[in-house]
Amino acid sequence: MRCPKIAVYPGTFDPITYGHLDLIKRALKLFDQVIVAIGENPAKKPLFTLEERREMIWESLRELRNGDEKRVTVESFSGLLVDFAAQKGACAIVRGLRAVSDFEYEFQMALMNRRLNRRIDTVFLMPGFRWIYISSTIVKEAAQFGGDVSGLVPPVVERKLREKYALNQDY
Ligand code: COA
Repeated sequence: MRCPKIAVYPGTFDPITYGHLDLIKRALKLFDQVIVAIGENPAKKPLFTLEERREMIWESLRELRNGDEKRVTVESFSGLLVDFAAQKGACAIVRGLRAVSDFEYEFQMALMNRRLNRRIDTVFLMPGFRWIYISSTIVKEAAQFGGDVSGLVPPVVERKLREKYALNQDY
């Protein structure tokens, strides 16, 4: 019997966007199981807590609704990504490439991860064309100043962004 092909899709997901969901759907076509792994990027100070990010991902995954959601799990990790992936029995790390500007950083990270664990490969997937310009930061910035982000993030994220920024304005 062949082992299930497991991939880890890591990110900060602060918050998850339709671009991330597009990538999860693509990864599900290639792998038996996808672990969405919320990690720590030391360079980032997230707006949402880990628990909030996890909840938003779960809620957003319900949109898959075709049974595929059963092949996705959401977890968080600290420490090295490759250690987490190895512990989960994953054979691959999935990352999205939106534009040439992503390449240098992703290339560096993939090579470092390979050096740290040669058994795990990084697989790059391209999101749909309509998502290539979005990032969590740009969505947050638009939402912060009252911009309409519907259609870029799932409804639960839109709601949470509105709540978060309304709350922050009270201070
Ligand atoms: N659609 C929309 N946006 C996308 C996207 C897609 N398909 N793919 C990437 N992005 C955006 C993200 O929203 C994010 O935007 P932001 O910078 O505005 O927040 C950005 O592109 C990429 O960030 P993200 O995918 O969240 O990953 P990251 O660069 O924050 O990396 C880890 C996070 C957790 C994967 C990485 O830091 C890590 O592995 N940490 C653990 C330590 C480690 O092992 N490091 C590597 C070896 S030293």
